[in-house]
Amino acid sequence: MDKTDYLFLRAIRKEPVGRTPIWIMRQAGRYLPEYRALREKYDFVTVCKTPELATEVTLQPLRRFGFDAAILFSDILVIPEAMGQELQFLEDHGPKLSPAVRTENDLDGLSTEAVTDKLQYVADAVRMIRSEIDGKAPLIGFSGSPFTLAAYMIEGKPTRHFRHIKAMLYKNPAFLHRLLQTLAKTITDYLKMQIEAGAQAVQIFDTWGSILPIHLFDEFSGQYLKQIAYELQDLKVPVILFSMGGIDHLIQLGDSQAQVLGVDWHTDLAQVKKLLHSEYALQGNLDPTVLYGSKEIISREVERILSLFRNESGHIFNLGHGILPDIPIENVEFLIEEVRRLSEAFH
Ligand code: CP3
Repeated sequence: MDKTDYLFLRAIRKEPVGRTPIWIMRQAGRYLPEYRALREKYDFVTVCKTPELATEVTLQPLRRFGFDAAILFSDILVIPEAMGQELQFLEDHGPKLSPAVRTENDLDGLSTEAVTDKLQYVADAVRMIRSEIDGKAPLIGFSGSPFTLAAYMIEGKPTRHFRHIKAMLYKNPAFLHRLLQTLAKTITDYLKMQIEAGAQAVQIFDTWGSILPIHLFDEFSGQYLKQIAYELQDLKVPVILFSMGGIDHLIQLGDSQAQVLGVDWHTDLAQVKKLLHSEYALQGNLDPTVLYGSKEIISREVERILSLFRNESGHIFNLGHGILPDIPIENVEFLIEEVRRLSEAFH
C-alpha cells in the first residue's frame, strides 16, 4: 500500500473514505490479557525502555482488533525522567516523579542537554515498529504537552487539586514559563526525533490543560502547543492536539498549524464540528465508560457520533480519553465492528 493511502491519513486530509478509521487512546494496556501476561514478567518502565517489548505491546491491539493506526508504546513521563527526575509507577496509585520541581535550584538542576540522546530507545522502538507494520497500519508517535508534563514535574505525585502548579501560576508565573519554554523546546526535538525515526503522525496529550481557567489556557498551555505545531510543520507529518477542557480550550487552538483536534468526552462534538471542522479533522469522542454499557447503548452512541459526519471525511473515531483497564474486551470488539458497519453505511 502507498504509505500515504492509509484510511487514517486520508481522513486527516479529508479525502473520501469508504468508512471511518478507528484507533483508541491507551489501546495497548491492561484491558488486554496479553498485555497483563507480559507485565507479569516485566515492569512498565522496562517495557518502555526495551524496543523489542515496546514493539510487541504496540502490536498486540493491532493483531487482535486490526485498528486503523498503531500508537507507539511508551509514556509521556519518559521526558521528565530523561531530564533527571526519578520516575516510579506506584501500584494502583499512579506516577511519582522525584524530587518535585519547585524552586529555581530544582529547575537549574534539570538536564536539557542531550535529552533526545537519552531517549534513543524510543527512536529504536519507532524504527522497529515501522518495520513490523509497514503496509498494515500507520504509526502515531506522541508526547505530553508542556503544561501536562510541568504539572507532573511540579506536583511530583498524584494530586486532586494541583495545588503546587496552580499556586505557581499566580505566585510565580515567570518560573512556570521558564519551565514550559524549556519543555516546549525539548518536546519539539523529541517529536522530531520520532518523526525522523518513522512516526507518520504525532499526538500531543494536553491532559491537564483541563485544570486551567479559560482566560489562562492560551498563556500557559495553548501558546506552547501552537509553538510545537508551528515548529513541526516543515516535517509534513500531521499533528494531533488532544486537549482536555472542552470547547473553550479547543477554540483557543483554532489558529494552530496542527491538522487534527482531539475532542474529549465532555465536549459536544456537534458544536466543535460547527466551529472548527472547516480548519481541522476531528478525532473522538466516545465516553470511555460507554464501554461498560450494553451492546444497544454502544451501538446508539456510535451511531450518534458517526451521524455527525454522514458522507463527510475528516473524522477519526476514538474514545474521548483513554480506555479503562477493566473494560470487557468483547465490548471493544463490538465497538470496532459497529464503527465499521455503521460508517460504511454512512459513506
Ligand atoms: O495509547 C497507548 O496505547 C500508548 C501508550 C500510552 C501510555 N500512556 C501507556 C501507559 C500513552 C499514549 C500514554 C500517555 C499518558 N501517560 C498520558 C496522557 C493520556 C491520558 O491518559 O491522559 C498520561 C497523563 C500519562 C501518565 C500516566 N502513565 C499515568 C497517570 C499512568 C498511571 C495510571 C494508570 O493507568 O495506571 C501511567 C501508566 C501507564 N501508561 C500505563 C500504560 C499502559 C499503565 C501501566 C501498567 O501498569 O501497565
